[in-house]
Amino acid sequence: MKKKKILVLTGAGVSAESGVKTFRDHGGLWEGIDPMVVASIGGWEKTPEKVLEFYNMRKNELKNASPNAAHIAIAEMEKDFDVTVVTQNVDDLHEKAGSTNIIHLHGTLTLTKEEDRSEERYPYIDDLKIGSVGRNGSQLRPDIVWFGENLDLMDIQKTRMAAEEADVCIVVGTSMQVSPANSVPWMTPELSLIYYIDPGEQDFHVPKFRMRGGFFTHVKKKASEGLPEVVEELKRIYLK
Ligand code: OAD
Repeated sequence: MKKKKILVLTGAGVSAESGVKTFRDHGGLWEGIDPMVVASIGGWEKTPEKVLEFYNMRKNELKNASPNAAHIAIAEMEKDFDVTVVTQNVDDLHEKAGSTNIIHLHGTLTLTKEEDRSEERYPYIDDLKIGSVGRNGSQLRPDIVWFGENLDLMDIQKTRMAAEEADVCIVVGTSMQVSPANSVPWMTPELSLIYYIDPGEQDFHVPKFRMRGGFFTHVKKKASEGLPEVVEELKRIYLK
């Protein structure tokens, strides 16, 4: 039997229990830091040293982070389902958990690129400084999609194709405030099942999900608890 297709859209909340900070929660990264200074193309043009300091710190924090039960449950779904992970996260915890089909919509903290030549990628191991250059002599920057930049066209196309074929869409750990990632669930077929796993109090986007009819479930739990439960439910629905 052909495996059912599942699109998993993840945000910072899926990595919260691995010790990676979210952005908009209480105590999140954007509480003390202005994203326009450290995560926008305008910020890079004005004070690149602040941008590099921010991403060097995040890259170094990631060294000690391990996947949690949610990343592992997503990776293990591949045994029974055809899974595409579309993540807004720049960490590599889906890779570390063993997922094999991952689209990093906002780039990745594991790679750098030259600011004037975007094709070539280099591993992001040593801290970047002003004056760190690549093979073409141009300043290196993290391979991150900043505010004010476009997403990679291939990533958008692959995401759209996966969404249009999805039988199930699991949205986990995202406040759904950043476009175009927050439009991914609406690209899935009208009758696909949608699960939204997020313990947050902000319910403003839940009615929008519900407009899709009866095929929406809000699992108001942490990812490490909610994700394995949803996987068990999908196995009951599709594999028995
Ligand atoms: P946010 O910080 O906006 O939202 C995190 C979500 O995770 C919230 O809805 C929380 O309720 C939820 N959450 C917290 N702990 C959780 C847990 N243990 N399990 C499950 N959910 C939990 O992060 P994103 O929606 O990912 O972009 O933010 C999207 C983008 O905005 C990011 O990729 C980043 C940011 O600015 C760039 O930097 C370009």
